[in-house]
Amino acid sequence: MALADFLANLDALAAEAQAQFTAATDSAALEVARVAYLGAKAGKLRLAQKGLGKVDSGDKPAAGKRFNEVKTLLEAEFESAQERLTSGKSAVGEAFDVTLPGRRRRIGHLHPITQTIRSMKEIMGRLGFTAVEGPEIEDEWHNFEALNIPLVHPARDPLDNFYLESAQKLVAEATSPLLLRSQTSTVQIRVMEATPPPVRIISLGRVYRPDTADATHYPMFHQIEGLLVDRGVTMADLKSVLRLFCQSYFGGDDEVHIRFRPSFFPFTEPSVEVDMNWQGGWMEMGGAGMVDPNVLRAVGYDPEEVTGFAFGLGVERVCMRQHGITDIRALYQNDVRFLEQF
Ligand code: DAH
Repeated sequence: MALADFLANLDALAAEAQAQFTAATDSAALEVARVAYLGAKAGKLRLAQKGLGKVDSGDKPAAGKRFNEVKTLLEAEFESAQERLTSGKSAVGEAFDVTLPGRRRRIGHLHPITQTIRSMKEIMGRLGFTAVEGPEIEDEWHNFEALNIPLVHPARDPLDNFYLESAQKLVAEATSPLLLRSQTSTVQIRVMEATPPPVRIISLGRVYRPDTADATHYPMFHQIEGLLVDRGVTMADLKSVLRLFCQSYFGGDDEVHIRFRPSFFPFTEPSVEVDMNWQGGWMEMGGAGMVDPNVLRAVGYDPEEVTGFAFGLGVERVCMRQHGITDIRALYQNDVRFLEQF
């Protein structure tokens, strides 16, 4: 082949390719043009390269030089076309309406139970009660024994508790069976064992009982425990503190009344159920009483020196009555449409 023919063919090809690269309006069209001209197997440039072999041998160096120039040029043309398309997309390619309102970010909020816990801590904090925490995995001493609940008591029935046989094997120092605590009263014992009187604490947290879930039961729920031990503490102090608490939490402008009904708990003597007046009737809040002398003795306190009151209220119950929630399960199904309302 004559050199002039080879070069003419090469120049025509280069002009064509350049035109197609410039005309491409999206990446797909550009890719089609790239394969057609720069494709490694059957691209037009590759075919032209094959023609090099047929050029008269004396002209081969000149032909080869020109071929390489065109190849470099086309590759650069392709790259700049590619750049034009990708950068054009965000900066120039698509119209952007600066007057559109911004997109509001969805930020979550605290779960209603967490909100209830926080305001309970705040109210009791103002009354001088410090919030403390206790473990959710407990031994029988703290969950039962020290709370004056003897081995034969029905509350210790294995079917009414989540005993953790495998956990006991893991915890070397565990000398008795371990279980998920069934009440926060355990924290009373832990605090009194660690601190001499006076004590004035609350403890809020999860408790576990193998109840079948229904509208008012759930195998996990929360309690607020309160304990005040000092010289000369009486049932009147208990009633005053609970009334102040309920007044702050629910009262607003309405005056809140507290009603005690006689009851029994192994760790208080006397024991009461606590009701609060609510929308023309009475709402049950939980249990309370004067700390049983056996409990004070179990932690090394002298019942002749100090007396105390204790109470335990259901956090879910308080939260549900506050918001008019009728099914406890709704609190734990994590349906955002439900939770968003609070
Ligand atoms: N621990 C009791 C329960 O879970 C509630 C309770 C009653 C707590 C009386 C107390 C109390 O501190 O004095 O049923």
